Amino acid sequence: MRKKIVAGNWKMNNDLAETELFLAELKKQVFPENVVVMIAPSFTNLNHAFKSLREHNVELVAQNMHQNNEGAFTGEISAKMLKSVGAKTVILGHSERRAFFNEDNAVLAEKVNTAIENEMTIIFCIGEELEDRKKGTHFELIKTQLSEGLFHVSDDAWENIIIAYEPVWAIGTGETASPAQAQEMHKFIRKTIAESYLEVIAEKISILYGGSVKPDNASEIFGQDDVDGGLIGGASLKVDSFMKIVNSF
Ligand code: 13P
Repeated sequence: MRKKIVAGNWKMNNDLAETELFLAELKKQVFPENVVVMIAPSFTNLNHAFKSLREHNVELVAQNMHQNNEGAFTGEISAKMLKSVGAKTVILGHSERRAFFNEDNAVLAEKVNTAIENEMTIIFCIGEELEDRKKGTHFELIKTQLSEGLFHVSDDAWENIIIAYEPVWAIGTGETASPAQAQEMHKFIRKTIAESYLEVIAEKISILYGGSVKPDNASEIFGQDDVDGGLIGGASLKVDSFMKIVNSF
């Protein structure tokens, strides 16, 4: 049975006061037993969130980290730092990092290695631009993102890897991939993993969908065979909409 996961990626939203308000509300909620709930606040609020959520079943996620373990990298955050404030899971390869901060597959492969070395769980994001889809090269692109960024890891490492398929054209646009498009790509991702690794590994991997998931479309998307949950941006910023999505399986 694959893990069902709903993870909120707050991006660069919510200062400390807003985070406190969100957490106070979140802690009143009852989560379905079969769903793993995660939130990814900004770096500055991770430790506060960790302490606040200590008694609660919410996993804390960092939005990024540097590929080096330490050193002269002004402004950067290491895996060890993240773990020391309670974040054992990290999002790598988000399309905003790829597009605005020039993170390519090679640097992501390094980050993946560093996360594994530090025994962190990885939410590895992949996704095509609208142009790729229009040209019909989206499957090829996804395969390249997987093979160049992730497929060097050992069989054992898959135990701590989650994939998030986020078509760039659906992020923050209000336009979601149709449930059929999401299913088609998730199935392809699983097949691609099975071809490079083992069928049993591919079957166990949770593959999340991200891109304009909202309370009114989540259940149809989550209802697809190969969709194991969502990575949620905008709709994760309010407890009410986030909880509706958490309850959408
Ligand atoms: P939206 O849900 O705002 O489209 O963002 C998706 C996303 O990028 C999550 O990482």
